[in-house]
Amino acid sequence: MKTQILSANQQTIGKAAGLLKAGELVAIPTETVYGLAANALDGQAVARIYEAKGRPSFNPLIIHLAHPQQAEHYVVMSEPAKMLAHHFWPGPLTMILPRSKGCEISELASAGLQTLAVRVPNQKTALSLLKECDLPLAAPSANKSGSLSPTSAAHVHDSLGGHIPMILADGASAVGLESTVIDMSSDVPEILRPGAISAEDIAHVLGCNVAYHKSEDTEAPKSPGLLLKHYAPSIPVRLNAIDLEPGEALLAFGNDQFMGIKGGGRASDLSESQRRNLSQEQDLHEAAANLFAFMRALDQPENKGIAVMQIPDIGLGIAINDRLKRAAQS
Ligand code: TXA
Ligand code: MG
Repeated sequence: MKTQILSANQQTIGKAAGLLKAGELVAIPTETVYGLAANALDGQAVARIYEAKGRPSFNPLIIHLAHPQQAEHYVVMSEPAKMLAHHFWPGPLTMILPRSKGCEISELASAGLQTLAVRVPNQKTALSLLKECDLPLAAPSANKSGSLSPTSAAHVHDSLGGHIPMILADGASAVGLESTVIDMSSDVPEILRPGAISAEDIAHVLGCNVAYHKSEDTEAPKSPGLLLKHYAPSIPVRLNAIDLEPGEALLAFGNDQFMGIKGGGRASDLSESQRRNLSQEQDLHEAAANLFAFMRALDQPENKGIAVMQIPDIGLGIAINDRLKRAAQS
């Protein structure tokens, strides 16, 4: 794939918006670092982000919004969260908040978690683009996993050139460091990732102490990049299933018609609450987009466990299998 680097203007912002609406990826400038953006409502577009980053693993992504008021569509804004939004947005502050009821952001974007990271960036091209495409944009830093976050279009090209259709260029990122990530989803605010906005800045607005998260004092650290509490079903998960135990639900991949149930019967006899197919056509993007929502749908007390058919360990399949293995262990 040829990667176009286009300087930001009305026309190229329009082109970027068109690509994003069509489910493609675009690297975009923000005031912190360049982000690799996709339509956050489209699970298959979000799956492309993980794929393009290489060595894909499903870490939750930040959702970028055009206006602070838009956050209310997707997350539950507490009073303190509203105060922070009022003071720091647009700007380099990401808040982790509970997903709102009926939130339409892809489950893959938040890696199956019931919280969502949101921010309004303070960069004119990013804001014009967000308004023009009129979509929430999921965007991690626009680099391959394990490499440095890019602060210029050239950095993005060094890392992702050939893997994405377009880089929207608008100079060097003013801040040059990723946003501060603060968990506002529980009663005690906690900074998960330090950034340009400090604990003191936030404490000043909230009128209370704000601490940095210390990974050693809990056994389930909250942020990755740092490390992550993963979504895991409450019933056992069994991998590479070639048939079903009685009472097990089926998470299929490809054709499951001939899958048998021990003691008699077939997968096709199962009810709606016992059977999901990640992708009938064995499309790994589709499977990734469906993974968390389908695990959750099958995670019901009336099911004895979830039997998962084999998924090829290539491309996004590696990330899917990584998550399934974790789910099978817990
Ligand atoms: O400055 C930035 O934040 C840049 C620009 C592009 O906006 N983005 C960025 O995204 O740094 P990323 O994906 O590289 O880092 C997102 C961080 C990760 O540490 C991730 O684990 C955390 O935010 N995060 C996202 N959603 C979360 C959630 N629901 N719970 C806990 N942590 C979350
Ligand atoms: Mg990053």
